[in-house]
Amino acid sequence: MAIEVRPHGRVGAEILGIDLAEGLDDEAVALVRSVFADHGVVFFRDQTLTEQQHIAFARQIGQININRFFAAHPDFPEIALVVKEPDQKDNIGGGWHTDHSYDAEPALGSILVARELPPEGGATSFASMYAAYDALPDHLRARIDGASAVHSAKHVFGSKPTAYASTQDTRGGRIGNSAAADVLEDVIHPVVITHPLSGKRALYVNPGFTIGIVGLPAEESTALLLELYAHCVNPAFHSVFEWQPGSIALWDNRATWHFAHNDYHGHRREMHRITIEGEALH
Ligand code: SIN
Repeated sequence: MAIEVRPHGRVGAEILGIDLAEGLDDEAVALVRSVFADHGVVFFRDQTLTEQQHIAFARQIGQININRFFAAHPDFPEIALVVKEPDQKDNIGGGWHTDHSYDAEPALGSILVARELPPEGGATSFASMYAAYDALPDHLRARIDGASAVHSAKHVFGSKPTAYASTQDTRGGRIGNSAAADVLEDVIHPVVITHPLSGKRALYVNPGFTIGIVGLPAEESTALLLELYAHCVNPAFHSVFEWQPGSIALWDNRATWHFAHNDYHGHRREMHRITIEGEALH
């Protein structure tokens, strides 16, 4: 089958004609990287990756970041388990967020492999932070020009989790390592970044982990973040990915938000996630 890139609604693109289990040659790696940079999420269907092949694919994209807060696969510490059991109410990632913005060098992206799916539901929504930035009204763009924001893991993974005023709860179902989160220093990133791969401008705050705008009083900071989030949740910037057995998504944490739908109570969903190291953002 010839390789084809098929845009997936407003964010993301599917690559057809690649069998990830075989490993990628240099040309295929370059294609995946360029689709990733242009579209924010790369989707694959009908794959049959073992855990070792998942790890091998991740290593072709970058260095693996071992997650500190999620339960790890018992045999492969590189793989974080994203599981919701039939008797669980909350899910992991059930609110808009981007992974690891609480790190000084936030993760480049994550590769999620579907291992067990509910009969219906359990999709993941993605939002393009390129599109959200491009569509910002001038008055909002002027307010964030040159601004920085504080990002934290404490309210989500720490020993005293709190629902931060502007967050949606992304805690559900995590088996945390709260001591590590308690001592993790909060970090500061620009509110608008120049994406390291595409060179495009992207909005880089998120409801999961951003806790304030530097230099603004708390109330004003929360109000501004809420205004930005209200703008970003416009479906004009979103697409929904319906998982099937063999589906894989590689998303860009610097250019997108994501959100795991929690609409399949009573059923099990198991996904395997590998996160790829990133770099400081400017
Ligand atoms: C996540 O937020 O990493 C999980 C996304 C999903 O399970 O769809």
